[in-house]
Amino acid sequence: MVDEAAVKRAQEHFGKLLRKQMERIERMNASKEKVDLSKLDKIIIGVCGGDGIGPYICDSARTVMEHLLADRIKSGNIEIRTIDGLTIERRAEVMKAIPDDTLEELKKCHLILKGPTTTPKKGDPWPNIESANVAMRKELDLFANVRPVKVPELGIDWIFFRENTEGSYALGSDGIDVNDDLAIDFCVATSEGTERIIRMGFEHAVRNNINYVSLVTKANVVKTTDGKFLSTAERVAKEFPNVKWDDWFIDIMTAKLIDPYRRGDFRVMVLPNLYGDILTDEAAQIQGGVGTAGSANLGTRYSMFEAIHGSAPRMVTEGRAQYADPSSMIKAVAMMLSHMGETEKAKRLEMALDICCQFEKKKVMTGRPNGATGDEFAQYVMDTIARPDLEKTWKNYVDSAVAASKAK
Ligand code: IPM
Ligand code: MG
Repeated sequence: MVDEAAVKRAQEHFGKLLRKQMERIERMNASKEKVDLSKLDKIIIGVCGGDGIGPYICDSARTVMEHLLADRIKSGNIEIRTIDGLTIERRAEVMKAIPDDTLEELKKCHLILKGPTTTPKKGDPWPNIESANVAMRKELDLFANVRPVKVPELGIDWIFFRENTEGSYALGSDGIDVNDDLAIDFCVATSEGTERIIRMGFEHAVRNNINYVSLVTKANVVKTTDGKFLSTAERVAKEFPNVKWDDWFIDIMTAKLIDPYRRGDFRVMVLPNLYGDILTDEAAQIQGGVGTAGSANLGTRYSMFEAIHGSAPRMVTEGRAQYADPSSMIKAVAMMLSHMGETEKAKRLEMALDICCQFEKKKVMTGRPNGATGDEFAQYVMDTIARPDLEKTWKNYVDSAVAASKAK
């Protein structure tokens, strides 16, 4: 016997979700508010530590950021604000992914540097509230999650454009337990939502003379939403006749990223939210681990920059938080600088990070007292940035790594 009452409850729930998504589409179409950072008298950067190791690594990254932006901070052209309240304790207390007052403060900023935040799942001691990352991406409409991964000695120079507000994440906390035996989740794709991320990928390819874009879906199985992603790509690609593009399924793309004969071909990858989440962890691992990658969450009004790894609460309970590796957060600072148009500073920071993390490794992060602290590492990075021979040193290291890898 079908439990008609359960079906009715689920239908009503579904109806509400549809209405909310339709309202979101209206908001997307209506809001064309664009902020040009170069035209602002003052840029406000909010620093939001998060929880677990977040506040520790965020502090180290903030030191580097303040060092590099010292002139503009002094002249009042940049203001850095501390934004509290994104801890799991506070979120659990108010039972919200982002407490209202914190969200209000975030909305007064232009750019946000955010530490990792604990994301509860079913069965955890915390209430199963929505992820703060996911909520922030939705609230601030940060539709593009941009994650570069580079390993010159393996011929890898990838940049991922992960859709950041739709897909399986849009209603990730709004699935339906229809009854004890049936659970249903939803996946969302909209015309505007898919178009803007795909267009961003193509525009990046054109601007950087890459002219090759790969779309990644599972449109052979997830026919409706991934199907829409792909058909939107077909439409948008027509506007970029000089850009070669192709489409891949996520399973084979996951394999191809570790295929030494193929992976060097890929340059720009555009993909729905969940596949982007998974594939970018794999890519980061190839680069040296999730701790080596940064992530830019871009919208037209706000942008948020973060590490791609989690909050490692165990390091805090074991008293090791000061030894947590801040390099992913510092990478996020580099991405923020580049987004602000501080290209030269961003480049120097990136080169210094490469030297400190991959080549010279004079301060090694082990996550334990036998390694460096995050603050010591930040100082090492700042000292490296100051080296007059930075660019030459970096180039030499990269060239010899490429040569060594070819000789193998
Ligand atoms: C990421 C993270 C988040 C995500 C988690 C913490 C919700 O894995 O930024 O990739 O799934 O997007
Ligand atoms: Mg992830």
